Amino acid sequence: MIDLRSDTVTLPTPAMREAMARAEVGDDVYGEDPTINKLQEMAAERLGKEAAIFVPSGTMGNAISVLAHAGRGEAVMVGNQSHIYRYEVGGASTLGGSPMYVLPTQDNGMLDLYQVEIGISDGSDEHSAPTALLCIENTHNRCGGAVLNVEQVEALSKLAHAHNVAVHMDGARVFNAAVALGIPVSTLVSSVDSVMFCLSKGLSAPVGSIVVGSRAFIHKAHRMRKLLGGGMRQAGVLAAAGIVALEQMVDRLAEDHENSKRLAYGLADFPQIDIDPSRVVTDIVNFSVQNAQQETLSEAETLRFLEKTQANGVLMGTMGEGTIRAVTHYGVTSDDVDKALIGIRKALIEMHI
Ligand SMILES: Cc1ncc(COP(=O)(O)O)c(C=O)c1O
Repeated sequence: MIDLRSDTVTLPTPAMREAMARAEVGDDVYGEDPTINKLQEMAAERLGKEAAIFVPSGTMGNAISVLAHAGRGEAVMVGNQSHIYRYEVGGASTLGGSPMYVLPTQDNGMLDLYQVEIGISDGSDEHSAPTALLCIENTHNRCGGAVLNVEQVEALSKLAHAHNVAVHMDGARVFNAAVALGIPVSTLVSSVDSVMFCLSKGLSAPVGSIVVGSRAFIHKAHRMRKLLGGGMRQAGVLAAAGIVALEQMVDRLAEDHENSKRLAYGLADFPQIDIDPSRVVTDIVNFSVQNAQQETLSEAETLRFLEKTQANGVLMGTMGEGTIRAVTHYGVTSDDVDKALIGIRKALIEMHI
């Protein structure tokens, strides 16, 4: 089975398992786990921020960040396609008491600067919640792994900061963005106030995410992590895998990007598949399937198609509205991509479309 559902299905590497077995540990709630401390220092340095905190998941990292930036009744701006808005159970509002001000996400993962500007409230009007935070996503999951470049990130940050609004980057896959752009990740995130990134996606660690920011922000983040029950004890066994992820698994993301382009261009050869392969720049490939009338398959038909690809050895996921997502990752080779294309072709034939 070639599993292209997500880069979260990656298994820890042999080097990670070995590092986990050997990890020196302590009680991290007391700040005494040397392996976690080392990972946090490495992460802060790598992203060019003052401090970092190790957290159990990307979702918790984003929730901690939102809670640390925005108080109850302060608004958080998000894109309507963002992970924070769509897939995190409304944490900003339900946990933090922050109304979410929702803007349309553009197809390239960007937010419109004018809409951001007019959406910001400075609190002078007592009818509206003052805006405390702008959240951006890089790479953008629902926009097919689209990358925001330095200029785009800086334009958003500059605008937000001019209105005293902080900027948080959901950088679950920010290393994919930096690798795709060929720049240090610290350059890409230098203008934002905080970043969450995941060790457990393309970087292949079994568990964990990191939040980075200023020392004062990370101090608050510690309190929010405790509030959410995310304070872990001898979790150095997990951080050990994260250290290997940062040391050994970043540069190889380029291989995943090559494989996703190979998949995208292969898919573009099938007349039933609607895809613009030139937009595939990281590890995510979004596409849809069309019937003989050139209509996108309904959700039910899409699920039937995915059952057929599975029967032909290829697992992929649906993003709703007929969009299918395939993600390349550690453990998927270029040969696997070619085999996946054969499986997908067989499934299309079996669908009689
Ligand atoms: C863009 C983005 N942000 C955040 C997350 C949440 O990460 P986790 O699954 O570790 O909670 C994901 C997970 O897929 C994601 O794609």
